[in-house]
Amino acid sequence: MAANNDSIGRTVTVTLLLCLVCSIIVSAAAVLLKDTQLKNKDLDRKKNILAAAKIDYQGKDVDALFNEKIIAKHVDLKTGKYVEKPSGYKDAKRAAKEPSLSTELTREQDIASIKRTANVMPVYLVNKDDALEKVILPVHGYGLWSTLYGFLALENDLNTVVGFGFYSHAETPGLGGEVDNPKWKALWPGKKIYAEGSMEPKIGLVKGTVVPGAPNAEFKIDALSGATLTSDGVTKLVQFWMGGNGFANFLTNLKAGES
Ligand SMILES: Cc1cc2nc3c(=O)[nH]c(=O)nc-3n(C[C@H](O)[C@H](O)[C@H](O)COP(=O)(O)O)c2cc1C
Repeated sequence: MAANNDSIGRTVTVTLLLCLVCSIIVSAAAVLLKDTQLKNKDLDRKKNILAAAKIDYQGKDVDALFNEKIIAKHVDLKTGKYVEKPSGYKDAKRAAKEPSLSTELTREQDIASIKRTANVMPVYLVNKDDALEKVILPVHGYGLWSTLYGFLALENDLNTVVGFGFYSHAETPGLGGEVDNPKWKALWPGKKIYAEGSMEPKIGLVKGTVVPGAPNAEFKIDALSGATLTSDGVTKLVQFWMGGNGFANFLTNLKAGES
């Protein structure tokens, strides 16, 4: 006599087998796709660095373009000097979690709400005819819901913005997520980080529309409407990374022709 397909034993067996097969498929996909995922992540980082530097990568071999145009180095934030990556250093994000590779920020220092900074950070340079043309710096800090990660590119005066953009965040689409709006990003090129003779960042987002030519307009960018908290976060993260606990020492050295 045929066994009862609706018995509890059969139902449980089929369910368990189905779970086993599905978990094998998902695990295999995760393992097999890991390399592709890492490669895509690296490619995305390179695209974002090129985009901040206003180097058009559309329709081009991004790896080749990046290798041709960008010089990647590492900088000790305290001394502002170029260094080799310390042993055990994989990337800045992981280094910031490792006590031996990072520094805890005091509450007054931590305006970007990031708790710790990696002691050594990557920087990217674009040279033209053997002279510095642009420098691209990684920045991150807390918005409303998430840490925003991006790149800020400066001209060789080490003060004028070439481009700015985030490659990772979880702010609300349409509100804080408007940091990705090309119209908003287009407000950044030409803005200045520091006032003449100072290394205290003056740049920041302000409510309303910045009128070109108005007093201090070169330091002001329109805040995102309906997203004051994200906007404040963006101001603070830019000010942090351009300040004394960020890249100011490096930029000072670079300006003096030494690093
Ligand atoms: C569902 C939801 C999502 C929100 N997302 C953001 C956001 O991503 N960034 C932000 O600054 N404010 C966001 N807000 C609004 C803030 O709660 C707050 O009201 C706003 O920052 C005030 O900005 P305003 O003065 O420009 O209106 C969100 C509000 C709600 C209800």
